[in-house]
Amino acid sequence: MKELFSDVVYAYVNGDFVAPEAAKISPFDRGMVFGDGIYEVVPVYGGRAFRWEEHLERLNRNLEIVGIRVPMSNEQWTGVFDRLMSRAADANHYLYLQVTRGVAPRNHVFPDAIEPTVFAFVQKLAPVSSDLLEVGARAVTVTDFRWHRCDIKTTSLIANAWLRQQAKEQGAVEALLVRDGVVTEGAATNVFAVIDGVVRTAPQGPQILPGITRDLVIELMLQAGIRCEERTFTKAEMAQATEVWITSSTNEVMPVTRIDNAKVSDARPGPVFQRVHELFQQFKAEYCTDARRDVG
Ligand code: PDD
Repeated sequence: MKELFSDVVYAYVNGDFVAPEAAKISPFDRGMVFGDGIYEVVPVYGGRAFRWEEHLERLNRNLEIVGIRVPMSNEQWTGVFDRLMSRAADANHYLYLQVTRGVAPRNHVFPDAIEPTVFAFVQKLAPVSSDLLEVGARAVTVTDFRWHRCDIKTTSLIANAWLRQQAKEQGAVEALLVRDGVVTEGAATNVFAVIDGVVRTAPQGPQILPGITRDLVIELMLQAGIRCEERTFTKAEMAQATEVWITSSTNEVMPVTRIDNAKVSDARPGPVFQRVHELFQQFKAEYCTDARRDVG
């Protein structure tokens, strides 16, 4: 059991800090029975939670949308984070936060009086593979059969897990999701494409998760004068793109150089990607040394 959790540093369940193998939640928890919960994945670089305020803001917003009581203040979350990190070594980590509606006899209707269940842990985060950064990843396109509230970061992730599995079974790193001909996002990433010299990514709305990395990448591009539009693109347009990349808290900015059985341009990470990657790494390095930007 201990071996299974060797990458997990320390866990938190409803007020208690415990070794990961000792963490326990009731099987009647609505997170278990209905996938009735909200979560966040926050990268931790050099001991600091990256874009911490933005992640907490999204967590609180999502909890309000689905009517789960916000269980603690941002300061209290910071306290949990600090204590979880007290056992972490100097490497990079990620923080997982999850709030489910709580424990109740099974009934679809939300119970009136219910205490949310709070679960968090810190886990080692492997650096993005340098091979993938140099050569680029392969992705496959699959039908986006998820629900119509993909903007909510819910723990009901069977569709996303299944779609990512389809990619894995085809030897690809990510599944690029296509709904009615339009590329929405990846199974666990946002997607960018350079089309006619302009960077494009799907606009915020119910079809995509408003990724924290996505928003930062857009911000960095605009500051650097790189043309970027939040406008959908079709699968056919993506096939003509000169560059494609994906973003997420665990993958940062990752080039995609093969989609299905075709190359993206000459199947090498392109110049816009290289520039965006550089801007991202620069921002990250500054963030880690600038305490003013961070409460974590
Ligand atoms: N996934 N879209 C989906 C469906 C995602 O699950 C994620 C992140 C993203 C990127 O969002 P962000 O930049 O805020 O990480 C987009 C996380 C990493 C996960 O589920 O593990």
